[in-house]
Amino acid sequence: MNIGLIGSGGREHALCKKLHGSKLCKKIFCFPGNGGTENLAKNIEVDILNFTELLRLIKLHKIDLVLVGPEEPLSLGIVNFLKKNKIKVFGPSKYAARLEGSKAFMKKICKENNIPTAKFRICKNKKQVVEYLKSLKLPIVVKADGLAAGKGVTICKSKKQVLNVSEEIFKGKFKSSNKLVVEEFLVGEEASYFLIVDKNSFKFFGTAQDHKRVGEKDIGPNTGGMGAYSPAPIINKNVEKKIINKIVKPTLKALRKENHPYTGFLYVGLMIVKNEPYLIEYNVRMGDPECQVILPRLKTDLLKIIKFSINNNLKKINIKWNKEKSMTIVLCSKGYPGKYKKNILISNFKNLKQNKKDIVYHAGTKIINGKLLSVGGRVLNFTSSGNNLFMVREKIIKMIKKLKWKSGFFRKDIGWKILDRK
Ligand code: AMP
Ligand code: GLY
Repeated sequence: MNIGLIGSGGREHALCKKLHGSKLCKKIFCFPGNGGTENLAKNIEVDILNFTELLRLIKLHKIDLVLVGPEEPLSLGIVNFLKKNKIKVFGPSKYAARLEGSKAFMKKICKENNIPTAKFRICKNKKQVVEYLKSLKLPIVVKADGLAAGKGVTICKSKKQVLNVSEEIFKGKFKSSNKLVVEEFLVGEEASYFLIVDKNSFKFFGTAQDHKRVGEKDIGPNTGGMGAYSPAPIINKNVEKKIINKIVKPTLKALRKENHPYTGFLYVGLMIVKNEPYLIEYNVRMGDPECQVILPRLKTDLLKIIKFSINNNLKKINIKWNKEKSMTIVLCSKGYPGKYKKNILISNFKNLKQNKKDIVYHAGTKIINGKLLSVGGRVLNFTSSGNNLFMVREKIIKMIKKLKWKSGFFRKDIGWKILDRK
């Protein structure tokens, strides 16, 4: 099979590597890919929101199946568009992608189906915000309704801040949002639960914990994710049962009832409060960097699983996982998530010794005239596996230090809540 893979992050490099290892895979085309996928696939520079151009390239290269990494094309309906043009594609429809694309849509599903989530109100104007504020204690969470590249959520420490943030959203700070969600702040531990879903059933696809804040001990502004590990021990069998029965099943049933069954990867973002899971968010894709810690643990052929899924036959496949734990640490450009320099040479990359367990997934990199350059905020994902996460982390840090890349920084404390807290 010829595969088309849309996206350019660490997640897509991890997917590309797994697909490349599949017996079912003939050739991979990455739209546009990065410096890492270039060695495994053919990278094709293209605007991933230009669906007509993508379709032309997909036909030109006789691509049999398309996988979509990021949320934006999914929210804009790439799956509907490609299916209409008789191209096989793995991912949710435009309607189902609203689980991530509209926080109000997700919250409505929660309310109608008794799904545990933070208490909330969808507000369309300031008056509604002011009124709802009266019933909440600080801190209070304000969320822009639409996609906001990870910048749409503010945890407000004063009611004045709630009003200021709300006003900015109503004024159009995020083009995708003219309404917002105000909700109570939940105190607990965050974890992510992943599934692969087809029209008839779903299968477990791993757990992970991300580290969103830029600074050690979870301080500073939010990022796309500074590192992750898998599995997430907070999701024990008991919590998992509750996630499936109280959150996943009612959501999938609701979408099926509306004649828009969910298909694709589903990322369930949770807050675990005293062994009770609350839904914080849905993402309609794999996480980045969570994908980079989940896929190394996957034993079953990824392409085989996806084939079963697009044929709505997931029920018939047994997905096997490695018992080992894995961790990834993201090496970022200095200045990220604020301003940072681009096109900086990464000169020692070839000195890094990679093997089956120690893998460096590229994110914001590009190979230009044979040289590896940084082109993004998150640059490389140093990933490793083993039985002892503490030792895995030490190994990863050693590897990052070997690179001696002066323009980068990373968090040395990934996993601190389970590894360093006494
Ligand atoms: P979201 O984009 O909805 O995942 O929100 C971004 C981050 O804000 C989450 O990963 C949480 O750390 C935090 N967050 C969102 N909603 C809440 C909430 N109701 N209570 C506590 N923290 C929250
Ligand atoms: N790492 C968080 C995300 O993929 O949304």
